[in-house]
Amino acid sequence: MAGPKSSEPGYAGGRLWGGVADRPPAEAVKSLTYSFAFDAVLLACDLSVNRAWAEALRRVRVLTDREAKRIQRGLARMEREADALLRQADRAAWEDVHTFVEVTLHRRVGDVAKKLHAGKSRNDQVATDLRMYVKELLTRLDGLLRGLIAALLEKAEAHAQTPFPAYTHMRQAQPTVFGHYLMAYVAAVERDREDLRVRYNETDVLPLGSGAVSGSGFPVDRRLLARRLGFRGISANSIDAVGDRDFVLGFHLWAARLMIHLSRMAEDLIVWSSDEARLVRLPQEFCTGSSLMPQKLNPDVAELVRGKTARVIGHAVQAMALLKGLPSSYDRDLQEDKEALFDSARTVQDCVAVWTGLVRGVEVDEKRARGFFQSGFSLATDLADALVRERGVPFREAHHIVGRVVRWCLDNHWRLGDVPADVLADISPQVDSKLLKGLGLESALASRDLTGGTAPKQVRSQIRAARRRLSRVLRGAQVP
Ligand code: ARG
Repeated sequence: MAGPKSSEPGYAGGRLWGGVADRPPAEAVKSLTYSFAFDAVLLACDLSVNRAWAEALRRVRVLTDREAKRIQRGLARMEREADALLRQADRAAWEDVHTFVEVTLHRRVGDVAKKLHAGKSRNDQVATDLRMYVKELLTRLDGLLRGLIAALLEKAEAHAQTPFPAYTHMRQAQPTVFGHYLMAYVAAVERDREDLRVRYNETDVLPLGSGAVSGSGFPVDRRLLARRLGFRGISANSIDAVGDRDFVLGFHLWAARLMIHLSRMAEDLIVWSSDEARLVRLPQEFCTGSSLMPQKLNPDVAELVRGKTARVIGHAVQAMALLKGLPSSYDRDLQEDKEALFDSARTVQDCVAVWTGLVRGVEVDEKRARGFFQSGFSLATDLADALVRERGVPFREAHHIVGRVVRWCLDNHWRLGDVPADVLADISPQVDSKLLKGLGLESALASRDLTGGTAPKQVRSQIRAARRRLSRVLRGAQVP
């Protein structure tokens, strides 16, 4: 395992600093301050930033063409060998990824490596690395979200007219189709995609050139740096640029909301697949069994997606707590932005991928759903609507009449569709068997034929519109 050597010429104890201190940091300080154990993830970004910087220094003649070439070669080789470098490195022994890069480069190309840090600070460097990381992450997540939406749309299409009880307060409320629920999920995930673009654009600003805090002492072309590193803009204020982690906080808040969406879907499916409801079957490959009870196949995946949501929310809270007391510009506290970010990044990607698989395998028990409409009272609103529509009864009165009918059913254990004519007549002269007979699940569904409604025709048009939006990719959306 390779770590820094204490004999490294010019890099006291493998550090990028040390002239000012007579003594090296205490051993105990290392485990608190060293970040390579986790910021090694940024190696590829850090190498790209260094390569762009070398070119910028060449253009302002801080590096000669020859020196720049030598540095570029060394960095390019490190890029090619990045995996091996990381495997061989003693992660606990290096202060951070920036130190690792410079000292390793020095070992390969010699003292010319010592010229590379002119006008650059780890403060603007880490801010740049991290933005590159978040941009890549968001791009990958947008792809994953598109996959999730595609899976939801496919299911929605298959169930555009599969009756399903619509719930409020976890009580059966009105009729819907299963596809309408799935399209509700699509609406939420589409908001996440919309917001992802905002997060991406906010992140797509280059801090490099800000130096430690006041701006680089060398007049490098920052626009050129931005182009080379794939950033759309450059930061306008160096003090802000080195201390700004709004893009990290923005990611956390975004991720937390996305997870809340997944968690609510998970909760729906857990309830609907319960032994009591049995409306939905979860795919076996996305359930796990009990070590003791042979009959059990538990919704652990859905439960863990719900559980992981707490973790991602926790990281968002940590990011806010981290930032709230910080003075302007860079403070070392900011190093604490990373582990939470990397953890949420992994968690969210895993959850979206798993959830997409689960969605694909979900099945609906249509017979059981239809049974609920016969035994339950989900068509009560439709009876009240019929009184309004066909008998001209004011809605508030219709509501009261139907309420009395339902009460009678509950007290006498009858189904709504079977209430005898004399009972109806007793309750109100306006409600009769003919009106009751007109009550049907299919017509109740079809009657909600307006934008956003549950009529299968409307659900299909929602699906078509969402398909069109799905084809838009992140790249095309970046233009302001
Ligand atoms: N490892 C630090 C971080 O993650 C970056 C280095 C800046 N360190 C410093 N002493 N200025 O924020």
